[in-house]
Amino acid sequence: MSGKPGSLDTPVEMLTRAAAKKELKWLAQEIARHDRLYHQQDAPEISDADYDALRRRNEALETRFPDEKRKDSPSETVGAEVASGFRKVRHAVPMLSLGNAFDEEDVRDFVARVRRFLSLKEDDALAFVAEPKIDGLSISLRYERGVFVQGATRGDGSEGEEVTENLRTIAEIPERLEGVPEVFEVRGEVYMTKSDFLALNERQEQAGRKLFANPRNAAAGSLRQLDASITRARPLRCFLYAAGELSEPVAETHWAYLERLRELGFRTNPLAERCDGAEAILEVYRRIEKQRAELDYDIDGVVYKVDRYDLQQRLGFVSRAPRWAIAHKFAAERAETVLERIGIQVGRTGALTPVAHLTPVTVGGVVVQRATLHNQDEIRRKDVREGDRVVVQRAGDVIPQVVEVVDDGHHAERPEYRFPEHCPCPLRTEVVRPEGEAVSRCSGELACPHQQLRRLTHFVSRDAFDIEGLGDKQVQAFFERGLIATPPDIFDLQANDGKQGEPPLAEWEGWGERSAGNLFQAIEARRRIPLERFVYALGIRQIGQATARLLARSYGSLDEWHARMSEAARERAEKPEEKKPELVGEAYAELCNLSGIGVSMADDIVGFFAEAHNLEVLEALEQRLTVEDAAAPSGGDSPLAGKTVVFTGSLETMSRGEAKARAESLGAKVTGSVSKNTDFVVVGADAGSKAKKAQELGVETLSEEDWAKLLERLR
Ligand code: IVH
Repeated sequence: MSGKPGSLDTPVEMLTRAAAKKELKWLAQEIARHDRLYHQQDAPEISDADYDALRRRNEALETRFPDEKRKDSPSETVGAEVASGFRKVRHAVPMLSLGNAFDEEDVRDFVARVRRFLSLKEDDALAFVAEPKIDGLSISLRYERGVFVQGATRGDGSEGEEVTENLRTIAEIPERLEGVPEVFEVRGEVYMTKSDFLALNERQEQAGRKLFANPRNAAAGSLRQLDASITRARPLRCFLYAAGELSEPVAETHWAYLERLRELGFRTNPLAERCDGAEAILEVYRRIEKQRAELDYDIDGVVYKVDRYDLQQRLGFVSRAPRWAIAHKFAAERAETVLERIGIQVGRTGALTPVAHLTPVTVGGVVVQRATLHNQDEIRRKDVREGDRVVVQRAGDVIPQVVEVVDDGHHAERPEYRFPEHCPCPLRTEVVRPEGEAVSRCSGELACPHQQLRRLTHFVSRDAFDIEGLGDKQVQAFFERGLIATPPDIFDLQANDGKQGEPPLAEWEGWGERSAGNLFQAIEARRRIPLERFVYALGIRQIGQATARLLARSYGSLDEWHARMSEAARERAEKPEEKKPELVGEAYAELCNLSGIGVSMADDIVGFFAEAHNLEVLEALEQRLTVEDAAAPSGGDSPLAGKTVVFTGSLETMSRGEAKARAESLGAKVTGSVSKNTDFVVVGADAGSKAKKAQELGVETLSEEDWAKLLERLR
């Protein structure tokens, strides 16, 4: 670039103001140019180290001459990478994930579960389609009146990023379709072939650019380019395998659907097969596994789907995964390396997890340096010692694990590993391990800085508050400077900015007016939050996303939930040892009876409400936020919405599982025991004490026939 200042090699301390000013101007333009080359054109001209040197020079100049800092200063643009540039789109039909099967037993269980749910008789056939699970990126293509109008990534399943123009560059995706319904959405996987990946990396290497770790990353990096002409230059391909929104059905079975896709000009995977029963699909699995290495694209398992759409519909979903499909994963990939050291990680609830620090090793194409050792018992069982040679394995997205020790002849000479008695946190609190539990915990609770920080990062994580620009790194920085200790502090950041003995955020290294402003704005935007995210964000032990959603839907509003949980906590405090929920109290029993909750989770929830410091945090959040009521369970105005139903006895026309799922999909809450809060009891054959109890309490009962009629009416 012309105009390069001659003073660049002069130490900053010796520069005149005028020379510094000139350099700052040049640096602003030069760094912006390299940013464009790197992020948008994927064609950097300088090495990362040289680029960093330019940025460091810029910062040093700005520190020495703060008045000369420019409006377009590069220090304001940190983090402004590719990710931010895409429009968000809401998926009309959510993009779901799949449950996993890891061995043949899991697959047989899956088939048995499906058969049971559908109440199939022994000789009833049940067809599946088995097809490779492509290791790429899932995408959704939307056609309106036969024209491709929108393409999106999966994102979090409900909301993805709009990448229409980038997808248009993929030759395999037709621009127009003949004879499809007005709205026609089709879903599949974008991927890069192994050979194209190798060739791309070779080009990257020759150009001195960063290499991609595997074809999947290369595909992701190529699709998520703001400049579609870069995507065009990358050889992406696409297999289609599922329907999204459709204004009219196009097939009655998945198999017929795949055929229809092919007729329309889409690519579907040639290895897909339709077959009947567990043994037949396992046969397909073995065949596909044998071919795996020879395929020119990565696959990480085989997906089994119930073929008939009417059965899929009946089976429905649990949480975010269909009951009618499962992914059978290939065995994890393994490698040997040396375990250099065992460290301890403190989790959000104080759980201490031993972590193996390894000599880096490539496992299935990814470099692994750390692996979990789970807990104290696992270390003892495997007798893992520092310095040992070990086998590590990686399966899908899960954290790598240490499988076993390989005897290198010196294992016995190494000292046995001793689990620490004190938390690695500065408090050095005692480690406690409740009887019967595998997990050791730091007893410092909220006073332990590790736990505090983990709670904060959980609070802002993707499925919780998901505040843009506030990732783990930023939270840690605020935490270390004492600006946020608990979640409500996040919402006071702006009001307290520059007032707590720290300079205003805009003056921090790596920040500027614009990025600070953006962060504050993102925080403001999250002052309104759906109840289920709020409940999940609290980080109560055992309460994942699905349970948080269940709680939100069951209690409806934060006020109601808070009040009922406090009540349940009071009840529990009086009878801490009682095993029967009904004998503890009404609010506690109601909680335990929500499907899938039970005593152990209920105790963790009421345990949370029994702690004064948690209530303080909760109340402080309540003052700062508007928590949106949860929609009544879907089913809307169905007469079952919000009703509590109990099934008892054996049902003949459908399995208990299907009955429960149907009731829930119509908005009912299904519980296991009859109380005065039960709205009605569906009584099957040979019903016992529950039917009697319903009569005693005057709760309405329905016969199975009544129930079937009710469902029929609501269809
Ligand atoms: S079906 C409702 N079929 O796997 C079911 N998914 O773990 C929708 N995937 O997000 C998915 N190959 O990205 C299906 N043949 C295949 C697949 C496949 C890869 C991915 C997909 C999904 C993930 C779930």
